[in-house]
Order: sequence, then C-alpha cells, then structure tokens
Amino acid sequence: MNWNSMNEKLQKRIMQLKTERNATILAHNYQLPQVQDIADIVGDSLELARAAKSIECDAIVFCGVDFMAETAHILNPEKTVLLPAEEACCPMAAMITADEVRMLRRRFPDAAVVSYVNTTAEVKAESDICCTSSNAIKVVESLDEEQVIFLPDKNLANYVARFSSKEILPWEGFCFVHDRITSNDVHRALQNHPDAKLIVHPECRPEVIDMADLVFSTSGMIKHVCSASEKEFIIGTEIGILHQMKKKCPDKICYPLSPEAICINMKKIDLVEICKSLELLQPRITVPQDIASRARKAIEKMLEL
Ligand code: 13P
Ligand code: SF4
Repeated sequence: MNWNSMNEKLQKRIMQLKTERNATILAHNYQLPQVQDIADIVGDSLELARAAKSIECDAIVFCGVDFMAETAHILNPEKTVLLPAEEACCPMAAMITADEVRMLRRRFPDAAVVSYVNTTAEVKAESDICCTSSNAIKVVESLDEEQVIFLPDKNLANYVARFSSKEILPWEGFCFVHDRITSNDVHRALQNHPDAKLIVHPECRPEVIDMADLVFSTSGMIKHVCSASEKEFIIGTEIGILHQMKKKCPDKICYPLSPEAICINMKKIDLVEICKSLELLQPRITVPQDIASRARKAIEKMLEL
C-alpha cells in the first residue's frame, strides 16, 4: 500500500471512530500538517482551552502536549481526554514544581502568582491565575497586587514587564525552541527577505523581540498575516504554524525565522496514534480531584477575563 492510500484509509477510520465515540479532535498550531487537517479545531493554547470547555462530546482527542490535555481534563472532568502520544510533553512545564511555587510564596508573601498554562496541574493548583501567550498582559493588569511572580517562562515574563508598571518577578524557565532563536537568525532572515515583516512569539529572547515588528501568540500571528496589507512575513516561532498560514492565507508568503525551530514533542502525534487512541480510548489524561479543583480556579479565573 502506498503512503497516500494508507493515509486515506487512516483518515476514513478516524472519521468513523470519531462518530462512534462522539469525539472531537483538537490540535495545536504546531502539530503535523496531516494532524491539523483532520482536526475539528486548530488553535493556540487559549483557543483550545476555551474549545475544550465549550464543545459537546464524550471524548476529546488532544493533539498537543501534556499540559494542554491536562487543562482540557481539568475543565471537563466528566469527559474522556486522550493524548494520542503519552510521552508528548512540554519541557518548559517541567522547569518548576509545586514545592518551588510554595517556596516563592513564602519568600514574597505579598505577590500574586501568575502561571503560564505551560505548567503542570500541581503548579496551577498553587497559582492565583493562569495565562497564555495571548492574554498574559491582560491577566497581569487584572490583578490588585503590585508584585507578580510570573512563571515559568522568563522570556514571556520579561515581555509582559515591558507593558506593566507592576514589579514582575520572573522564574528562570524557558522554551528550548524559542530561546534558541538568536539575533543572528534575525539578521540572516532580514538579509534574505528585506521586504518581509518580522513577527515573533513572546517566548523569544528579549533581543529577538526588540528586532521584531510585531509580537503575537500563534493564532494571533495567523490572524495578523491573513488580515495585513503586507505580503511577506518572517515567522519567529515553531515551523508547524506555517501550514495554517498556507491554508488560511495562500496569497501571503511566510518564511520561518529559523527552520530549526521544531518542537519534537509537538511532532509525536500522527494519524496512526490518533486512530489507535480512538480505538482503545487510551492513553487517557486524568488529574487527581483535589489538584484539579484548585487548578480549575486558576484556569477559570483566566477564562473569565
Ligand atoms: P500559543 O498559546 O501561542 O499557541 O503557544 C503555545 C506554546 O506552546 C508556544 O510554544
Ligand atoms: Fe513547550 Fe516550547 Fe514545545 Fe511550546 S514549543 S510545547 S513551550 S517546548
């Protein structure tokens, strides 16, 4: 059997299973093109969390990484949440523990704790509110406290600090995909494409952000590229996003800022894993009830804004 007919067979079986299981497939903008194409909803972390809360179905197949599936389960404890590749994790989420958050609270008793959604459920449970890359500034500004512990991403924390008069205390975490992008990558890309606008993700280093025309979440980038009058863009984030840009605005030309910006964790799910996961209703992502109920408060507080 050749590649195309195998893919067609898999797609057909996934569709059948989706109906049988009354399942919805959610996929992050960084997923493989064939996964994005089979998903019911493709989006950024905030859009997918909102979708996970509002969709009516019995099972959610989450094509993303562990913290995203955990968030979906916390918001929908009654639904089966599947992460087709159990080992798909976000290394940044593992850069801070709940014990470390408790330690920070003791050290800075007057500070609010804002957790990026790229954290474990245990860390969310210790936090006042969550945020994503698309609402981080709004979340910080919504707080009464003047001092804010922002974790785990130092780059996002420093980006938020540019727009806030509050004292932001960053944790030292980072995303290995975005933190690896350098100002040399920017110089090279601008030399090759002098007419292109540079858009980067706020997980990038401050010196890269300084050189950008615009800073957006992944879906924010797609929306901007589609609606802008300019034609050429250099995109500073994980390269999986280029597939949505090609699909949604084929008249635009988008270049990756770094062709090496690949999140291997986001590439662990393919059609075979999705099919198997729907067949077996495994691997399921669950969160212990006491942790889930505390984490839910921090996530819902963000969703209410
Ligand atoms: P977005 O919320 O912008 O999609 O970002 C998620 C992420 O993991 C970025 O690395
Ligand atoms: Fe985590 Fe970075 Fe991968 Fe996003 S791109 S899931 S922050 S490792």
